[in-house]
Amino acid sequence: MSDLPEFSPVIGPLCTHDKGTADADFHLPLCRGLVPLCMDSQLDYWGAKALLEWHIELGVTEAICDAPINRYDLAEKTPKPQAGSSKGAQTPPRAPLQMDPVAEAKRAANSAQSLDQLRAALQDFEHCDLKHGARNLVFCDGQPGARVMVIGEAPGRDEDLAGRPFVGRAGQLLDKMLAAIDLKRSENVYITNVLPWRPPQNRDPLPVEIAMMVPFLERHVALAKPDVLVVVGNVSCQATLGQRGITRLRGTWTEAWDKPVMPMVHPAYLLRQPHAKREAWADLLEIKARLLSQS
Ligand code: URA
Repeated sequence: MSDLPEFSPVIGPLCTHDKGTADADFHLPLCRGLVPLCMDSQLDYWGAKALLEWHIELGVTEAICDAPINRYDLAEKTPKPQAGSSKGAQTPPRAPLQMDPVAEAKRAANSAQSLDQLRAALQDFEHCDLKHGARNLVFCDGQPGARVMVIGEAPGRDEDLAGRPFVGRAGQLLDKMLAAIDLKRSENVYITNVLPWRPPQNRDPLPVEIAMMVPFLERHVALAKPDVLVVVGNVSCQATLGQRGITRLRGTWTEAWDKPVMPMVHPAYLLRQPHAKREAWADLLEIKARLLSQS
């Protein structure tokens, strides 16, 4: 090692004029004792400084031993128990701590006694990675307690920014569809999604992500108390009915969580395939007829 100040457990002194250094006039506050890794290495001052800065960037705040340990190397040197050897059998590996995100979701969702508490429970739920990539929690829009509850799939970019479901192009079409049967989110419709966080690049949600949101959705329905559910798209069918195949399921009343359910194609699909609007219109008329017959 050439000009790196010698290791000392003392932290603090400025390394300004260490003996015999080529950089006798540098005035950088390099704390001695923070770079034990460099003691036996060939690092020069600048290499050591860059390494120190890299450690700081990674969040390292203290040195815990004098010499570096290559733990990858250690793992290789540690003898592995032979298959079937009695020694291996005597020390069974400790079972990793199991955390079931679906059970956690059930516990959190069922403890909510109001829609506000349910929103808060979702805000606090840490087991869905989507949360960490999203800008906002997208919980609901419209009128809680409305007779019709629409369940969409997941927020897109516009919804992620606004923190409200169905505000983009698909949402505008949904509003028009609802208006055609005298429904309006500001008056008599309540809207949510299976997933309250936007998946990255709008990718399809993973089965595990859907599974851990189902308890929240079920509780959401119980607390919002709609007369009918309108589930749009395959992800929503998966979450409420446990099955996909929207082109087969659409248009026929079914049931989930003690509520009548009308599956429909997603408005985003109708934007791409306008010819399917004819069937969607028939489904809307079904919903209207049901509401009239129950009122
Ligand atoms: N698509 C959905 O399913 N939900 C939204 O909120 C927006 C688009």
